[in-house]
Order: sequence, then C-alpha cells, then structure tokens
Amino acid sequence: MNCPTYHIPVLLKETVDGLDCRPDGTYIDVTFGGGGHSREILSRLSAHGHLYSFDQDADAEQNVPEGETRLTFVRSNFRYITNWMRYYGENEGVDGVLADLGVSSHHFDAEERGFSFRFDAPLDMRMNGRGGQTAADVLNTYDETALSRIFCIYGELKNGRKLASAIIKARSQQPFDNIDSLLAVAKPMMPREREKKELAKVFQALRIEVNHEMEALEEMLKGAIRILKPGGRLSVLTYHSLEDRMVKNFMRAGNIDGKVEQDFYGNRLTPLRQLGKVVIPTQQEQEENPRSRSAKLRVAEKVELPDQRNTNDKS
Ligand SMILES: C[S@@+](CC[C@H](N)C(=O)[O-])C[C@H]1O[C@@H](n2cnc3c(N)ncnc32)[C@H](O)[C@@H]1O
Repeated sequence: MNCPTYHIPVLLKETVDGLDCRPDGTYIDVTFGGGGHSREILSRLSAHGHLYSFDQDADAEQNVPEGETRLTFVRSNFRYITNWMRYYGENEGVDGVLADLGVSSHHFDAEERGFSFRFDAPLDMRMNGRGGQTAADVLNTYDETALSRIFCIYGELKNGRKLASAIIKARSQQPFDNIDSLLAVAKPMMPREREKKELAKVFQALRIEVNHEMEALEEMLKGAIRILKPGGRLSVLTYHSLEDRMVKNFMRAGNIDGKVEQDFYGNRLTPLRQLGKVVIPTQQEQEENPRSRSAKLRVAEKVELPDQRNTNDKS
C-alpha cells in the first residue's frame, strides 16, 4: 500500500542509493512511518533479500504492504535494534541501516496526538502513544533549570530561559493540560513576524524531551555500528542541527563527541567512514515537500577494524 497522505518520503532515491543494496542482502529501516523508504528498499531486493522495518508508533503498522514476506515489521523503539537482531537470529550482521529521523506528517495531522499547534488537543506528543511521560507531564513537573535546558538546547530558542520562567509562574495558577494553555503563555513571548517558527521550536523541544529522541538516536547509532557487516552502509536523514551533529560525529569518530581514538600504534580507531558529501533536497523537492527543507542526508560505510573481525555475533 502506498500512503502519500501519511507521509511523503524525503530524498527517497538518494537515501536508499546510500545503502547500495545487494539484492540478497539484509537491511533495516529503523523509521518505517508511511513505508516510503521501506518500499523503495524492497523494490531493490530479490526474493532472498530481507528487510526489518521498525516503528514505535502503532499507527505506522497499517502501512505495511500486505503479503510481503520479505518484510518483518518490528513495533519497537529503534534504540533496541541490537537486541531485536539477536532475537531474529541475524548473528552474521546486516548489510545496511536506514534512518529517517523525527516524526511523520501523520503525527502533525492527527489532532489528538498533540504534536501540532494548529489544533487544540491534550499535550501528549508521545510517539509510541502508550507509556511514558507526556508533554503536559514535562511542563507541569520539570524545574525551571530543566525546562530552560530543553527550550535552549533542543529548541535553540533565544528566549528559552524566559519561557521556562513564564511556564513555572503560569502552572502555579493552573496546570498545563492542552495546547491552548501552552499557547496562552508562549505566544505573547514570540515576535509576531516569527511567531510560527518560534512556536515550532517550542514544540520540537518538548517532542524531543518527551520521546528521549537524542538518547534513542545515540543508542541506535552505537547498535548500528555493532550489527553492520564490514562494508555495510548507514544512511541517515536528519532534520535539525542537534541530530545532525550527533550523526556527523558518529560517522567521523564512532562516538557522540566526534573525538577520534587511536590504538597503541597510532592507528585511528574509527568504525565508520563517511562516504561523499552531505546531500540536501533539490529546490524542486523543497518546494513540493516543505518538510524536506531542513533535511540532510549522510551516508557511511562500516570499516573492518583489526580487532573486530568475526566478532559481530559476540556483541
Ligand atoms: C520521518 S518518519 C519516517 C518516514 C518514512 N521514511 C517514510 O518514508 O514514510 C519517522 C518515523 O519514525 C518513527 N520513529 C521515530 N523515532 C523512533 C524511535 N526511536 N524508534 C522507533 N520509531 C521511531 C516515527 O514514529 C515515524 O513514524
């Protein structure tokens, strides 16, 4: 099933080209969503190839192509990628991992999920829709320093501290429960001409915190390094600078600091090698699909380090 209303895939061909698919290979799409990238991968696999597609959101499962035996849908957070591959017996490692980070258009369009300031709805924002803290919990329980950190770092908001202080004040009168209650505090603090952009940053910051997106990304990247075969590919689409910095550092150095480690002999211990330059969508794609405007694609290849030979199945 093709589902353009659920989500229009960004840099579709380029991201899948990054995997350099072998027809009989085994691949993972850690962010299935509407299934656009997964379907493109399947179109490049033979009957012997296999694709594992992850999504933590139950809504995404409706987009799984019917009767497609080459696809295994895994309804889970991608941070557990290594455990799942062990569970499925993929001990030889996989040929490629694709990630298209963040939320889908469906999340912004489903009013009741609370991701968009276009609608009044409960302040939820959980991608998995089932356990864990909601955006209302964050707003009502975090202290001022923690809220400030979220708005300044995850939202890159210049007035993040002022906003955190205003939230603490407002909630002492009435706890936050729906989007309008947040807008009533945040909107008057935003310059009119940039109101929408600034509110989008507030919502992005909360969403990242609610879903522990940076922690999950770090764990997934570490897992990908472990489960990729030597020569296997990692193809990642990011949409904001924090994600992009983390992916860039991992591809450069194999860790989030981007600091390259060396062995006793001075050999660089870098498990990945970035391939080519960062790819961004063409002007035409950006016009046709505004969501693609902030996208950046990075591709890397797993390097075989001397002490990693034949250890994929022992990690
Ligand atoms: C940008 S969309 C992917 C769109 C997809 N590439 C397509 O072509 O339709 C991101 C998807 O990843 C899922 N997602 C985000 N973070 C996740 C995580 N940590 N674990 C599992 N799924 C995640 C979201 O629920 C969403 O459906």
